[in-house]
Amino acid sequence: MASSTLSIFIFSLFLFSSFSNAKSPQKPKAFIFPIKKDVTTNQYYTTIQIGSNSTTFNVVIDLGGKLLWFYSDDYLSAASSYHPIKCGSQQCKIADGVGCVLCDSSPPVPGCTNNTCSDYVLNPFTGTQVYNGLGLDVLRVYSIRGAQYRVKRFPFQFSYPDLREGLASPTTGLIGLGRTRISLHAQLASTFKIRQKFALCLPSSSGKDGNMIVGQAAYDNPFQEISKSLFTTPLIKNPVSTDMNEQVGNFSVEYFINVKSIKVGEKTLSLNKTLLSIDKKTGSGGTGIRTVRAYTGLERSIYRALIKEFVKAAKSMKIKRVASVAPFGACFNSKTIGRSKTGRKVPTVDFVLQSKNVYWRFYGSNSMVRVGKDVMCLAFVEGGVNCCGPTTSIVVGGYQMENYLLEFDVASSRLGFSSSLLLHDTSCSKFGAS
Ligand SMILES: *[C@@H]1O[C@H](CO)[C@@H](O)[C@H](O)[C@H]1NC(C)=O
Ligand SMILES: *[C@@H]1O[C@H](CO)[C@@H](O)[C@H](O)[C@H]1NC(C)=O
Ligand SMILES: *[C@@H]1O[C@H](CO)[C@@H](O)[C@H](O)[C@H]1NC(C)=O
Ligand SMILES: *[C@@H]1O[C@H](CO)[C@@H](O)[C@H](O)[C@H]1NC(C)=O
Repeated sequence: MASSTLSIFIFSLFLFSSFSNAKSPQKPKAFIFPIKKDVTTNQYYTTIQIGSNSTTFNVVIDLGGKLLWFYSDDYLSAASSYHPIKCGSQQCKIADGVGCVLCDSSPPVPGCTNNTCSDYVLNPFTGTQVYNGLGLDVLRVYSIRGAQYRVKRFPFQFSYPDLREGLASPTTGLIGLGRTRISLHAQLASTFKIRQKFALCLPSSSGKDGNMIVGQAAYDNPFQEISKSLFTTPLIKNPVSTDMNEQVGNFSVEYFINVKSIKVGEKTLSLNKTLLSIDKKTGSGGTGIRTVRAYTGLERSIYRALIKEFVKAAKSMKIKRVASVAPFGACFNSKTIGRSKTGRKVPTVDFVLQSKNVYWRFYGSNSMVRVGKDVMCLAFVEGGVNCCGPTTSIVVGGYQMENYLLEFDVASSRLGFSSSLLLHDTSCSKFGAS
């Protein structure tokens, strides 16, 4: 090729690419979602806008949820752009639907359409499940710079009013952040070609919102500085689904971390190590992480060991124990507990991960909860009971995640977590990016 032809060719390529860049809006890197806490239920929720009329409502955030489900009269009555996912379609494969429903309504309405790809959704508070068709509609999202974008075909289940029982009253459904291809971050990642990653910062009170940032972004300071020195630990897959509707052989959609030991102050609890790892055959054991559990739940023997050591360490700090208030097993007279910038001055509780230098340390703000005038309790509960599926020994709950910066890098299966933001003189209510 003559060099002049080549340079014309290159020149026109350059012209073409700069032209198309100028025309298309800037490619977003990350999206932001506000997080509120409902103090009645201790649930965390965000606000979404869905449908051609951008019906706006709140949904509970579930780290271990598969997908978005909701019931909303407003959505039904707005002129919606709902489309059912057809059985056998590519979308149905992505949604991993387990069946096909016939629902004969004329005209078709969201949640009742013929030949529709279907799946179970779970209300994690009541244990109720609903099997229904899945659909698609436009989801409006906001980049960290405040620009609006649309996910044209966002998957969800339009469910039944009854399934909302037990949800925080400002909410009408639940949004999943689990390991599926139809969770919020997975859909944003595939639509906008961004990294499958989200940062979660849960607020500790109702008046102060936290934020979730999906994608890769430079945070506002001091969070950008804090994010440079996060502890990191692998996010583990449980080879047996904790969802009883899934067949054996399916990975769990929940996230697990490898807690190797627990310390109270400098003292390591003596625990049955079998409970701390996931049994690859049954899926039992190990440590999950769920925003839909108010407090961290511990299998009975772990729970008892923690209470015993904590009470002992508190006593040596002259903290006076009082009668327990259910569901908590160790309560104290708060007048006998000092204060610090990380909450009440109590023995620290550490979840030690893959090495002794990687630990999640809980101070008073995350380990003590007020239950009455002058009474505060150790904010851990006895857990590890499950009627029908594998039993997870430890489930880290929302109260223990508040005011930590948590980065779920799903793409590389790693969790990054900060030390308590209170140590850095900040909190999740200031978390953002621009
Ligand atoms: C939906 O939006 C259209 C256009 O903005 C409006 O005319 C219509 O009244 C809306 N419908 C409902 C039910 O809100
Ligand atoms: C739905 O499917 C059933 C069974 O195939 C059929 O009898 C019915 O006419 C269909 N309804 C609509 C609205 O297409
Ligand atoms: C779940 O298991 C079934 C049967 O083994 C398989 O066909 C399906 O692809 C699995 N789904 C996922 C998400 O792994
Ligand atoms: C440890 O836990 C496992 C799993 O629950 C149990 O089978 C085993 O008996 C326990 N060992 C002891 C010493 O309690």
